[in-house]
Amino acid sequence: MSSDDTVHAHDDDTARPREDGTVHAEEIAATFDAAAEDFDRVTPDVWGPAGQCLVFQAGLRSGDTVLDVGSGTGASALPAAAAVGPTGQVHAIDLSDEMLERGRVKASERALLNIEFVSADATTWEAPSTVPEAGYDALLSSYAVFFLPEMDEAFARLLRLVRPGGTVGVTAWHETALRDYATTFLDALGPHLPQPLPDRTTEMEPAQRLDTQDKLRTWLTAAGTEAVEVRELSNLIPATEEFCWGFVLGSGLRATLAGLAPDVVEQVRTDFMTLITDRGLHTIDASTLVGTAKVVGFG
Ligand SMILES: C[S@@+](CC[C@H](N)C(=O)[O-])C[C@H]1O[C@@H](n2cnc3c(N)ncnc32)[C@H](O)[C@@H]1O
Repeated sequence: MSSDDTVHAHDDDTARPREDGTVHAEEIAATFDAAAEDFDRVTPDVWGPAGQCLVFQAGLRSGDTVLDVGSGTGASALPAAAAVGPTGQVHAIDLSDEMLERGRVKASERALLNIEFVSADATTWEAPSTVPEAGYDALLSSYAVFFLPEMDEAFARLLRLVRPGGTVGVTAWHETALRDYATTFLDALGPHLPQPLPDRTTEMEPAQRLDTQDKLRTWLTAAGTEAVEVRELSNLIPATEEFCWGFVLGSGLRATLAGLAPDVVEQVRTDFMTLITDRGLHTIDASTLVGTAKVVGFG
């Protein structure tokens, strides 16, 4: 994958949703493999602050054993590793090898020896024998649960890997997040597409089920947790060209550019930035909900 700002015509490694709207594990892996470098460029603005907040709110302790699901490049897994210290351990699992490799490099740079980035599907992950029999002390997942197929069942299964009384923490987009930004991008893109984009409403439904404080609280409670706490991290990022375009390339929006010739992509970029200015979008709303809870004990 090229590291410059141009998405090339043969960028078909960026997966597009299938016609039935389902996105399968290998397609998710391909999408995040292709986006990894650009994704990570916005870590300091977007993923990093949320990951830090998640770890803080989860109240991790020295010695805890943590599973981080959909860890990406480690936005929450790395601060978790720092929180649990050398006597704790973090299993950071993801489908995308490119994202995982970036996480490994960061862990090495920070001399964090208690974190493993593992290529694995969260829907089938089993705790290895280094995890106490009762289960993980904490399960974290930042901006990832809504990618899981059959989200409720997959999340319920993950919760069973946590000991009774252990902690669960997730982040999810607030309902206002990225709304004007994405609309503006799609308005700039539309005239350049040979045919309209497929309807992705179904694909976005899981995220929309978690996008207010009430919804996230209700969902966590229904999953079998108690002492639920949901907070909103307000994050209004200055709408610089670097950020606006970088976030297209580093997010799911990237898939919409696959197959377009470089000069067309460049025109989309120019039109997008013009629309951002015309519409007076000075900031990009990346506001995020941070939800934590305790896993209800059995019996
Ligand atoms: C938006 S990224 C978030 C990454 C990271 N948690 C962060 O906040 O920067 C979502 C991640 O979930 C991963 N993912 C999606 N479905 C997954 C699955 N079934 N098992 C493991 N990882 C998955 C993707 O590969 C991607 O890296």
